[in-house]
Amino acid sequence: MIKPFLSAEALSKSFTLHSQGGQHLVVMHDLNLQLAPGECLVLAGRSGIGKSTLLKMVNGNYRISAGRLTLHFDNGELELSTLPAHAWHVLRRDVIGYVSQFLRVVPRVSTREVVMEPLLSRGVGEAEARQRAEAMLARLNLPERLWDLAPGTFSGGEQQRVNIARGFIAEHPLLLLDEPTASLDAANRDVVVELILEAKARGTAMLGIFHDEDVRDRVADRLLHLEATVLETAGLESAGSETASLETNSPTTEETE
Ligand SMILES: Nc1ncnc2c1ncn2[C@@H]1O[C@H](COP(=O)(O)OP(=O)(O)OP(=O)(O)O)[C@@H](O)[C@H]1O
Ligand SMILES: [Mg+2]
Repeated sequence: MIKPFLSAEALSKSFTLHSQGGQHLVVMHDLNLQLAPGECLVLAGRSGIGKSTLLKMVNGNYRISAGRLTLHFDNGELELSTLPAHAWHVLRRDVIGYVSQFLRVVPRVSTREVVMEPLLSRGVGEAEARQRAEAMLARLNLPERLWDLAPGTFSGGEQQRVNIARGFIAEHPLLLLDEPTASLDAANRDVVVELILEAKARGTAMLGIFHDEDVRDRVADRLLHLEATVLETAGLESAGSETASLETNSPTTEETE
């Protein structure tokens, strides 16, 4: 296997539910994975198993409870669990792209600006950013009459396409995709599959969640099945020891959701 770009070692995540007497919810225990450049690893497992939680840990939205999450660069490593807060800004600008399931809408910011922003924040010029944003929106079949509007009132599928355009435009080397095709029709799902395959071809490492089996089969190199370890405990000591099994994707994917 070629050198991984992202690796997780004995990764664990628990939440303390302050509203419920400080109860401990162990969502992930001892997860190991490796993700290489140009590879798409698809997370599978039942609802509530911790798929989105894993993406949020990689994106720095959720703190890592134990274990290591490491990015490997040619000139060194970056351990995410100990990364200072200010470094996350640079990492999200330059390295980690995240397509969340729902667009976070900022009032009065137009669709075009939402999509241009990741490029502008890297210093790409206004004219080039605008041209690339418009090309991406057109490719995702978002009607031109919507480009000047803030996406707050858009339909679910329209918002999702704005989110995808924003996520893919800056060509981050690591992309996190949380059900990016959930609200899309078949034609737009196909566009997203093309975007994913193009990203893979230029070496993007991807960690994704796809409920649509057809999409999953077309983009996944491997599946990572997250298995039940969710325990509600007063402490960590009764956490299970097995969480995940890795396997190669095959045409007869046995996933059921
Ligand atoms: N911020 C949080 N505080 C407390 N519990 C949380 C938090 N975020 C997630 N959880 C819990 O962690 C578990 C995993 O949630 P997660 O959203 O990762 O599931 P999922 O596998 O993505 O499910 P789905 O397929 O429904 O999206 C759930 O039991 C959820 O309630
Ligand atoms: Mg989820």
